[in-house]
Amino acid sequence: MQNEKRRIFSGIMPSGNLHLGNYLGALKNWVALQDDYENYYCIVDLHALTVPQDPKVLRVKIRELAAIYLACGIDPEKSVVFRQSRVSGHAELAWLLNCVAKVGELSRMTQFKDKASKGGTDSASVGLYDYPVLQAADVLLYNAHLVPVGEDQRQHLELMRTLARRFNGLYGETFVVPDIFVPEAGARVMALDEPTTKMSKSSPTPASYIALLDDPDVVRRKIRRAKTDSRSEVKASPDKPAIANLLGIYAAMTGRKVAEIEAEYEGRGYGDLKKDLAEVVVEGLAPIRERALALLDDPAELDALLDRGAAKAREVADTTLHDARAKLGLD
Ligand code: TYM
Repeated sequence: MQNEKRRIFSGIMPSGNLHLGNYLGALKNWVALQDDYENYYCIVDLHALTVPQDPKVLRVKIRELAAIYLACGIDPEKSVVFRQSRVSGHAELAWLLNCVAKVGELSRMTQFKDKASKGGTDSASVGLYDYPVLQAADVLLYNAHLVPVGEDQRQHLELMRTLARRFNGLYGETFVVPDIFVPEAGARVMALDEPTTKMSKSSPTPASYIALLDDPDVVRRKIRRAKTDSRSEVKASPDKPAIANLLGIYAAMTGRKVAEIEAEYEGRGYGDLKKDLAEVVVEGLAPIRERALALLDDPAELDALLDRGAAKAREVADTTLHDARAKLGLD
């Protein structure tokens, strides 16, 4: 028991185009943490259904996400890679947790308010409202200790901790209360065309994000055309969100400090920074793109890998679910 590693759980939705924000906020850190933990990296396909999806596109996106996980460096020997919908315990535990979560808590979730406000709250799906409870079930089902995510997930993870504590308080010690891991650099990558909004998979404007599968020339063009602030000094400050974002991406990609990069560009303009940043990003992403495209040539192997992952995940999930059911008097 003493030698058992602590567990990590995290996941990404197979919707839209995976982008630089997903890489810097999540995937890059998953890979870095992989050796020190027992890892569960999930393709959260049930979460993707909270907004309408085309089934044909969803199937393609699920495989693409599996290929990107591996291409970024997730090693199936060290990490369990699987689909959420293949482990039915996620949906079942979400129901059990629904019965301890409160309407007021879910109503306060900013991501729900933002997404629902676009089409009107009354016509948002109940799934979208309940999204954070399913997310809590994902993590608690594996009794994970650590959840590496980008900054935008903080509120959902606070709710998850609240639900774990509440369940434990009401029914007896059942779930580990997980810690949140948000990286120092790259936790909130902003849109290239509008640096006051988050870079987003669901954006209808491809110029706003760098997709992990973008061709290198497309990456160069998008960075060249990224919005800039009025004065041309290369310095990150709250009144210069565009340059702060570019410097933040540079720092997260290279592991260098923003101040160090600012010093290097003293007396030089945005043009120089953008040119160098484009090469830094291309150098980082090109191998990922190539590996992912090669893996996508063998979809049967990707499917088999996901099936093996689901079988391993089920073993852990079943134990926790059994315990939660027993605590509730359902055994
Ligand atoms: P998703 O698919 O929207 O995002 C996946 C991960 O990418 C991070 N991220 C960003 N990081 C930095 N800058 C950005 N612009 C940016 N955009 C996205 C997100 O923080 C996330 O880490 N709800 C989750 C999916 C999920 C989950 C879970 C995560 C479902 N169950 C359990 C952890 C544990 C989400 O936002 O996915």
